Amino acid sequence: MTNKNKTVWSSRFKNPPSQSFQRIGASINVDKRLYEQDIFASKIHTQMLIKKKIIPIKEGKKIIKGLNKIKGQIKKGKFEFKEKFEDIHLNIEKKLYEIIGDSAGYMHTARSRNDQVVTDFKLWIKDSSLVLIKELNSLMKNLIKKADKNVGTVMPGFTHLKNAQPVSFAHYLLAYYEMLKRDKQRFQNNLELMNESPLGAAALSGTSYNIDRNFTSKKLGFKKPTNNSIDTVSDRDFAIDFLYACAVCAMHLSRLAEDFIILNSDAYQLISFNDKMLTGSSIMPQKKNPDPAELIRGRTGINYGKLNSILTIMKGLPISYFKDLQDDKALVFDGYDTLKDTLLMSNELVKNIKPNKARMSDMAKTGYTTATDFADYLVKDQKLSFREAYRISSKIVNYAEKNKKNLDELTLNEIKKFYKNLSNNVLKIFNVKHSMNSKNSYGGTSERNIKNMIRKYKKELK
Ligand code: ARG
Repeated sequence: MTNKNKTVWSSRFKNPPSQSFQRIGASINVDKRLYEQDIFASKIHTQMLIKKKIIPIKEGKKIIKGLNKIKGQIKKGKFEFKEKFEDIHLNIEKKLYEIIGDSAGYMHTARSRNDQVVTDFKLWIKDSSLVLIKELNSLMKNLIKKADKNVGTVMPGFTHLKNAQPVSFAHYLLAYYEMLKRDKQRFQNNLELMNESPLGAAALSGTSYNIDRNFTSKKLGFKKPTNNSIDTVSDRDFAIDFLYACAVCAMHLSRLAEDFIILNSDAYQLISFNDKMLTGSSIMPQKKNPDPAELIRGRTGINYGKLNSILTIMKGLPISYFKDLQDDKALVFDGYDTLKDTLLMSNELVKNIKPNKARMSDMAKTGYTTATDFADYLVKDQKLSFREAYRISSKIVNYAEKNKKNLDELTLNEIKKFYKNLSNNVLKIFNVKHSMNSKNSYGGTSERNIKNMIRKYKKELK
């Protein structure tokens, strides 16, 4: 075998790895996605080696030039990734030999693949978190746009999927704004927590070379170097945090999708989707099915799965590096890809829904949704205790139900059968818009509150 085809450890081995292990053990098809991070970190590492006079400047310069060339080749699709070199780190090192010859041998001084892979991986997760944060921002903006147009749109608010109290469609949409804002914060918190440079931990014990970890940490964009070399090569909590943040965000989007599916169903008909967000049936000509929303809901299962897998891989693993850890990347990449698509679809979905305002208002009036308002009125106007007022209001509901009327269809005389001392102005209490706008406590559904909140949201998104 020519040197070119040998593994870097071939001098110690009598046989190459078995064919099947080579295929199964190689991670190159997955971790080639780390090539930019790997080359970037190798260049910084080499700069540090030059600066600290650990390698000759001449060799260092050749390495950096060679790495730049490799980056260009990969970008242009002119780099052949080889399974026999296992992973991205060794594929690049081997290619460097091809380009600059034995000078390439200086690059891996004072580091190991163990600190190298964590460095690359952290850099990748940092970049990718920012992409997701950007997608979240755009979804939040779309929610605000839709909410802005629907501040005065009354719909039935549900608990237990039973009509509960009238709310504004904007208020309902903005509930998701708040969830997504926390999702964004979760990614941001993780960025803060993982912001320590692994480079220099080497295999597990650090290194005897006079390296400058502050230099590499700063150049790589980390806040500081990690404190313990064993912890550095052992833990993947930063990947778990990322997958957890993905899973929670996916869960929120799944609930949004499910809400839309219900509101769009033929039983509810409270919102409609643009045809762009629907598919037809191969047999039933009348059908328009909300497939994208269903995919958003379903794929949450994939995000949960990735989180569950990595937690299970880590459990019971002695500290420091084991090959078990290699599969962390496929999980994170899949989790990221899945959530990114889910966010894209959610953005489209929010842009392409239309509330059926007339039906929302009609449905808000059914199910006696202002019964609480009437009880509250008796408390405030007639100084009754809430329990007493509740009892009277429930009797009115029973009466309305028996007579097949909505509460706002009752006459003053009918209402007076249950409580005498009432004037005409009680009737407005049963108006759903009045009910909605009376919920003026901070965070409540009144139009005034919502407008203030939207103003605040617009500012914080700038
Ligand atoms: N491809 C490996 C991984 O992703 C890189 C680290 C290899 N380290 C080792 N000691 N075999 O985990």
